[in-house]
Amino acid sequence: MVNRHFLTLMDFTPSELAMLVNRATELKNIHHQGQVYEPLKNKVLGMIFEKSSTRTRVSFEAGIAQLGGSAIFLSPRDTQLGRGEPIEDSARVLSRMCDIIMIRTFAHETVKNFSDNSRVPIINALTDDYHPCQLLADMQTYQEHRGSIQGKTVTWVGDGNNMCNSYINAARQFDFNLVVSCPAGFEPMAELLEANKDRVTIEHDLSKAVAGSHLVVTDVWASMGQEEEQKEREKVFQPYQVSPELMDLADAEALFMHCLPAHRGEEISHDMLDDPRAVVWDEAENRLHAQKALMEYLLSNEEN
Ligand code: CP
Ligand code: NVA
Repeated sequence: MVNRHFLTLMDFTPSELAMLVNRATELKNIHHQGQVYEPLKNKVLGMIFEKSSTRTRVSFEAGIAQLGGSAIFLSPRDTQLGRGEPIEDSARVLSRMCDIIMIRTFAHETVKNFSDNSRVPIINALTDDYHPCQLLADMQTYQEHRGSIQGKTVTWVGDGNNMCNSYINAARQFDFNLVVSCPAGFEPMAELLEANKDRVTIEHDLSKAVAGSHLVVTDVWASMGQEEEQKEREKVFQPYQVSPELMDLADAEALFMHCLPAHRGEEISHDMLDDPRAVVWDEAENRLHAQKALMEYLLSNEEN
Protein backbone atom coordinates (compact mmCIF):
# COMPACT_ATOMS: atom_id res chain seq x y z
CA MET A 1 0.00 0.00 0.00
CA VAL A 2 1.34 3.42 -0.94
CA ASN A 3 1.30 5.82 1.97
CA ARG A 4 -0.60 8.95 0.89
CA HIS A 5 -0.14 12.36 2.47
CA PHE A 6 -2.07 15.61 2.19
CA LEU A 7 0.52 18.39 2.32
CA THR A 8 -0.99 20.57 -0.42
CA LEU A 9 -4.01 20.32 -2.72
CA MET A 10 -1.61 19.12 -5.42
CA ASP A 11 -1.18 15.79 -3.61
CA PHE A 12 -4.65 14.72 -4.76
CA THR A 13 -6.16 14.66 -8.23
CA PRO A 14 -9.03 17.00 -9.14
CA SER A 15 -11.42 14.05 -9.08
CA GLU A 16 -10.22 12.94 -5.65
CA LEU A 17 -10.74 16.48 -4.37
CA ALA A 18 -14.22 16.66 -5.90
CA MET A 19 -15.05 13.31 -4.27
CA LEU A 20 -13.82 14.58 -0.88
CA VAL A 21 -15.96 17.70 -1.10
CA ASN A 22 -19.05 15.64 -1.97
CA ARG A 23 -18.25 13.16 0.78
CA ALA A 24 -17.87 16.02 3.27
CA THR A 25 -21.46 17.08 2.56
CA GLU A 26 -22.64 13.47 2.95
CA LEU A 27 -20.86 13.15 6.29
CA LYS A 28 -22.38 16.48 7.35
CA ASN A 29 -25.87 15.17 6.60
CA ILE A 30 -25.17 11.91 8.46
CA HIS A 31 -23.99 13.93 11.46
CA HIS A 32 -26.90 16.39 11.34
CA GLN A 33 -29.35 13.47 11.22
CA GLY A 34 -27.83 12.16 14.44
CA GLN A 35 -26.63 8.92 12.87
CA VAL A 36 -23.63 7.23 14.44
CA TYR A 37 -20.99 6.41 11.82
CA GLU A 38 -17.73 5.00 13.18
CA PRO A 39 -15.53 3.61 10.40
CA LEU A 40 -12.34 4.66 12.24
CA LYS A 41 -12.90 2.77 15.47
CA ASN A 42 -9.61 2.28 17.35
CA LYS A 43 -7.75 4.62 15.00
CA VAL A 44 -5.55 7.21 16.68
CA LEU A 45 -4.87 10.68 15.29
CA GLY A 46 -1.69 12.44 16.46
CA MET A 47 -2.09 16.24 16.42
CA ILE A 48 1.11 18.29 16.49
CA PHE A 49 0.59 22.00 17.02
CA GLU A 50 3.59 24.33 16.90
CA LYS A 51 1.23 27.29 16.32
CA SER A 52 -2.07 28.22 18.01
CA SER A 53 -5.44 27.00 16.80
CA THR A 54 -9.12 26.96 17.67
CA ARG A 55 -10.93 25.61 14.59
CA THR A 56 -8.28 23.18 13.39
CA ARG A 57 -7.75 21.58 16.76
CA VAL A 58 -11.41 21.22 17.62
CA SER A 59 -12.50 20.09 14.15
CA PHE A 60 -9.83 17.37 13.96
CA GLU A 61 -10.36 16.21 17.52
CA ALA A 62 -14.16 16.22 17.28
CA GLY A 63 -13.96 14.71 13.80
CA ILE A 64 -11.89 11.67 14.72
CA ALA A 65 -14.04 11.12 17.83
CA GLN A 66 -17.22 11.21 15.73
CA LEU A 67 -15.69 8.64 13.37
CA GLY A 68 -15.03 6.32 16.32
CA GLY A 69 -11.33 7.06 16.86
CA SER A 70 -9.40 9.20 19.28
CA ALA A 71 -6.82 11.99 19.22
CA ILE A 72 -3.66 12.92 21.07
CA PHE A 73 -2.79 16.62 21.24
CA LEU A 74 0.95 17.25 21.15
CA SER A 75 2.59 20.64 21.61
CA PRO A 76 6.31 21.47 21.64
CA ARG A 77 5.83 22.88 25.14
CA ASP A 78 5.39 19.47 26.68
CA THR A 79 6.98 17.01 24.24
CA GLN A 80 10.57 16.42 23.16
CA LEU A 81 9.72 18.30 19.94
CA GLY A 82 10.31 21.49 21.90
CA ARG A 83 13.63 20.24 23.25
CA GLY A 84 15.30 19.64 19.93
CA GLU A 85 14.50 15.99 19.10
CA PRO A 86 14.90 15.88 15.30
CA ILE A 87 11.65 16.00 13.35
CA GLU A 88 12.69 12.86 11.44
CA ASP A 89 13.06 10.88 14.68
CA SER A 90 9.76 12.17 15.99
CA ALA A 91 8.10 11.09 12.73
CA ARG A 92 9.60 7.60 12.93
CA VAL A 93 8.41 7.13 16.50
CA LEU A 94 4.98 8.76 16.35
CA SER A 95 4.07 6.98 13.11
CA ARG A 96 4.64 3.63 14.82
CA MET A 97 2.05 4.58 17.44
CA CYS A 98 -0.52 6.70 15.61
CA ASP A 99 -2.54 5.74 12.51
CA ILE A 100 -2.61 9.23 11.04
CA ILE A 101 -0.93 12.50 12.04
CA MET A 102 -1.72 16.15 11.43
CA ILE A 103 0.84 18.91 11.84
CA ARG A 104 0.57 22.67 12.16
CA THR A 105 3.98 24.28 12.02
CA PHE A 106 6.08 27.09 10.57
CA ALA A 107 8.34 25.86 7.72
CA HIS A 108 6.62 23.79 5.05
CA GLU A 109 9.83 21.78 4.87
CA THR A 110 9.08 20.45 8.37
CA VAL A 111 5.88 18.68 7.24
CA LYS A 112 7.73 17.38 4.18
CA ASN A 113 10.51 15.96 6.37
CA PHE A 114 7.96 14.51 8.71
CA SER A 115 6.03 12.81 5.91
CA ASP A 116 9.22 11.46 4.33
CA ASN A 117 9.91 9.61 7.57
CA SER A 118 6.38 8.57 8.42
CA ARG A 119 4.74 5.16 8.01
CA VAL A 120 1.28 6.71 8.21
CA PRO A 121 -0.58 9.49 6.35
CA ILE A 122 0.43 13.05 7.25
CA ILE A 123 -1.96 16.00 6.97
CA ASN A 124 -0.77 19.58 6.70
CA ALA A 125 -2.88 21.55 9.17
CA LEU A 126 -1.19 24.85 8.15
CA THR A 127 2.35 25.89 7.43
CA ASP A 128 3.81 29.30 6.57
CA ASP A 129 3.18 28.38 2.91
CA TYR A 130 -0.11 26.46 2.68
CA HIS A 131 -3.40 25.69 4.44
CA PRO A 132 -5.01 22.98 2.28
CA CYS A 133 -7.54 21.73 4.87
CA GLN A 134 -9.15 25.17 4.91
CA LEU A 135 -9.55 24.99 1.14
CA LEU A 136 -11.46 21.72 1.35
CA ALA A 137 -13.92 23.44 3.69
CA ASP A 138 -14.09 26.56 1.51
CA MET A 139 -14.78 24.54 -1.64
CA GLN A 140 -17.44 22.53 0.18
CA THR A 141 -19.05 25.74 1.43
CA TYR A 142 -19.15 27.33 -2.02
CA GLN A 143 -20.61 24.19 -3.56
CA GLU A 144 -23.29 23.89 -0.87
CA HIS A 145 -24.39 27.50 -1.37
CA ARG A 146 -23.91 28.03 -5.09
CA GLY A 147 -23.11 24.73 -6.84
CA SER A 148 -19.96 24.09 -8.85
CA ILE A 149 -17.16 26.64 -8.63
CA GLN A 150 -15.77 25.54 -12.00
CA GLY A 151 -15.35 28.50 -14.34
CA LYS A 152 -16.19 31.07 -11.65
CA THR A 153 -14.05 34.03 -10.63
CA VAL A 154 -12.68 34.20 -7.10
CA THR A 155 -11.01 37.31 -5.68
CA TRP A 156 -8.40 37.03 -2.98
CA VAL A 157 -8.01 40.27 -1.02
CA GLY A 158 -4.99 41.13 1.12
CA ASP A 159 -1.82 39.26 1.96
CA GLY A 160 -0.35 36.77 -0.51
CA ASN A 161 -0.01 34.31 2.38
CA ASN A 162 -0.47 30.59 3.06
CA MET A 163 -4.23 30.82 2.36
CA CYS A 164 -3.63 32.73 -0.86
CA ASN A 165 -1.09 30.14 -2.05
CA SER A 166 -3.64 27.42 -1.34
CA TYR A 167 -6.26 29.37 -3.31
CA ILE A 168 -3.89 29.31 -6.27
CA ASN A 169 -3.66 25.52 -6.00
CA ALA A 170 -7.44 25.39 -5.68
CA ALA A 171 -7.86 27.49 -8.83
CA ARG A 172 -5.89 24.84 -10.70
CA GLN A 173 -7.51 21.78 -9.08
CA PHE A 174 -11.11 23.04 -9.01
CA ASP A 175 -10.79 24.90 -12.33
CA PHE A 176 -11.65 28.53 -11.52
CA ASN A 177 -10.04 31.91 -12.15
CA LEU A 178 -8.37 33.74 -9.30
CA VAL A 179 -7.71 37.45 -9.02
CA VAL A 180 -5.28 38.36 -6.25
CA SER A 181 -5.57 41.92 -4.94
CA CYS A 182 -2.67 42.65 -2.62
CA PRO A 183 -0.36 45.55 -1.86
CA ALA A 184 2.81 45.59 -4.00
CA GLY A 185 5.45 43.48 -2.31
CA PHE A 186 2.93 41.11 -0.69
CA GLU A 187 2.26 38.86 -3.67
CA PRO A 188 1.89 35.09 -3.26
CA MET A 189 4.71 32.67 -4.10
CA ALA A 190 6.31 33.65 -7.42
CA GLU A 191 6.71 30.10 -8.73
CA LEU A 192 3.04 29.36 -8.03
CA LEU A 193 2.00 32.49 -9.92
CA GLU A 194 4.22 31.53 -12.84
CA ALA A 195 2.94 27.95 -12.95
CA ASN A 196 -0.68 29.11 -12.87
CA LYS A 197 -0.55 32.29 -14.94
CA ASP A 198 -3.26 30.92 -17.23
CA ARG A 199 -5.80 31.33 -14.38
CA VAL A 200 -4.30 33.62 -11.72
CA THR A 201 -3.83 37.36 -12.13
CA ILE A 202 -2.65 40.13 -9.82
CA GLU A 203 -4.80 43.26 -9.68
CA HIS A 204 -3.61 45.80 -7.12
CA ASP A 205 -6.73 47.96 -7.64
CA LEU A 206 -9.27 46.41 -5.25
CA SER A 207 -12.42 47.76 -6.93
CA LYS A 208 -11.33 46.32 -10.27
CA ALA A 209 -10.35 43.04 -8.60
CA VAL A 210 -13.78 42.36 -7.11
CA ALA A 211 -15.85 43.57 -10.09
CA GLY A 212 -18.11 40.69 -11.13
CA SER A 213 -16.44 38.23 -8.74
CA HIS A 214 -18.39 35.19 -7.50
CA LEU A 215 -16.44 34.69 -4.29
CA VAL A 216 -14.45 37.24 -2.31
CA VAL A 217 -12.02 35.89 0.28
CA THR A 218 -9.66 37.55 2.69
CA ASP A 219 -7.50 36.75 5.71
CA VAL A 220 -5.57 38.54 8.44
CA TRP A 221 -2.94 41.10 7.46
CA ALA A 222 -0.30 39.53 9.73
CA SER A 223 -0.24 35.75 10.02
CA MET A 224 1.01 33.68 12.92
CA GLY A 225 4.75 34.22 13.17
CA GLN A 226 4.49 37.79 11.77
CA GLU A 227 3.24 39.45 14.96
CA GLU A 228 6.14 41.93 15.04
CA GLU A 229 5.15 43.17 11.56
CA GLN A 230 1.54 43.91 12.61
CA LYS A 231 1.88 47.69 12.98
CA GLU A 232 3.81 48.13 9.73
CA ARG A 233 1.36 45.92 7.85
CA GLU A 234 -1.65 47.84 9.19
CA LYS A 235 -0.41 50.88 7.26
CA VAL A 236 0.31 49.08 3.98
CA PHE A 237 -2.87 46.99 3.98
CA GLN A 238 -5.27 49.83 4.92
CA PRO A 239 -6.84 50.05 1.41
CA TYR A 240 -7.49 46.28 1.37
CA GLN A 241 -10.56 45.99 3.57
CA VAL A 242 -13.62 43.95 2.59
CA SER A 243 -16.94 45.62 3.43
CA PRO A 244 -20.57 45.24 2.29
CA GLU A 245 -19.97 48.28 0.05
CA LEU A 246 -17.05 46.53 -1.64
CA MET A 247 -19.13 43.36 -2.01
CA ASP A 248 -21.74 45.44 -3.90
CA LEU A 249 -19.20 45.68 -6.76
CA ALA A 250 -19.04 41.87 -7.03
CA ASP A 251 -21.54 39.59 -8.75
CA ALA A 252 -25.10 39.77 -7.39
CA GLU A 253 -24.73 36.16 -6.16
CA ALA A 254 -21.25 36.67 -4.66
CA LEU A 255 -20.30 35.09 -1.36
CA PHE A 256 -17.73 36.22 1.20
CA MET A 257 -15.38 33.86 3.06
CA HIS A 258 -12.69 34.24 5.71
CA CYS A 259 -10.87 31.30 7.31
CA LEU A 260 -11.05 33.07 10.69
CA PRO A 261 -10.02 34.35 13.16
CA ALA A 262 -11.04 37.75 11.73
CA HIS A 263 -9.94 41.20 12.79
CA ARG A 264 -12.90 43.57 12.47
CA GLY A 265 -11.73 47.06 11.53
CA GLU A 266 -8.69 45.65 9.70
CA GLU A 267 -9.16 43.20 6.81
CA ILE A 268 -12.95 43.35 7.21
CA SER A 269 -15.28 46.18 8.21
CA HIS A 270 -17.09 45.86 11.53
CA ASP A 271 -20.33 44.85 9.79
CA MET A 272 -18.95 42.42 7.16
CA LEU A 273 -19.61 39.18 9.05
CA ASP A 274 -23.23 40.22 9.67
CA ASP A 275 -23.83 40.64 5.94
CA PRO A 276 -25.94 37.85 4.39
CA ARG A 277 -23.24 37.29 1.75
CA ALA A 278 -20.79 36.19 4.49
CA VAL A 279 -20.86 32.42 4.93
CA VAL A 280 -18.02 32.20 7.43
CA TRP A 281 -19.86 30.18 10.10
CA ASP A 282 -20.80 27.49 7.59
CA GLU A 283 -17.22 27.66 6.34
CA ALA A 284 -15.90 27.12 9.87
CA GLU A 285 -18.30 24.22 10.51
CA ASN A 286 -17.28 22.59 7.27
CA ARG A 287 -13.73 22.18 8.57
CA LEU A 288 -15.19 19.37 10.68
CA HIS A 289 -16.93 17.58 7.83
CA ALA A 290 -14.22 18.10 5.21
CA GLN A 291 -11.49 16.75 7.49
CA LYS A 292 -13.65 13.77 8.43
CA ALA A 293 -13.89 13.01 4.72
CA LEU A 294 -10.14 13.47 4.39
CA MET A 295 -9.27 11.16 7.31
CA GLU A 296 -11.78 8.56 6.18
CA TYR A 297 -10.24 8.57 2.71
CA LEU A 298 -6.60 8.49 3.84
CA LEU A 299 -7.32 5.60 6.21
CA SER A 300 -9.81 3.71 4.13
CA ASN A 301 -8.43 1.75 1.25
CA GLU A 302 -5.49 -0.23 -0.02
CA GLU A 303 -5.79 1.23 -3.51
CA ASN A 304 -5.08 4.78 -2.21
N1 CP B 1 -9.02 28.80 10.13
C1 CP B 1 -8.20 28.17 11.01
O1 CP B 1 -7.36 27.34 10.65
O2 CP B 1 -8.43 28.50 12.31
P1 CP B 1 -7.56 28.11 13.58
O3 CP B 1 -6.27 28.87 13.50
O4 CP B 1 -8.41 28.52 14.76
O5 CP B 1 -7.31 26.63 13.56
N1 NVA C 1 -2.92 33.20 7.44
C1 NVA C 1 -3.33 32.86 8.79
C2 NVA C 1 -4.34 31.78 8.76
C3 NVA C 1 -4.86 31.38 10.13
C4 NVA C 1 -5.85 30.25 10.06
C5 NVA C 1 -2.11 32.46 9.60
O1 NVA C 1 -1.26 31.72 9.08
O2 NVA C 1 -2.00 32.88 10.75
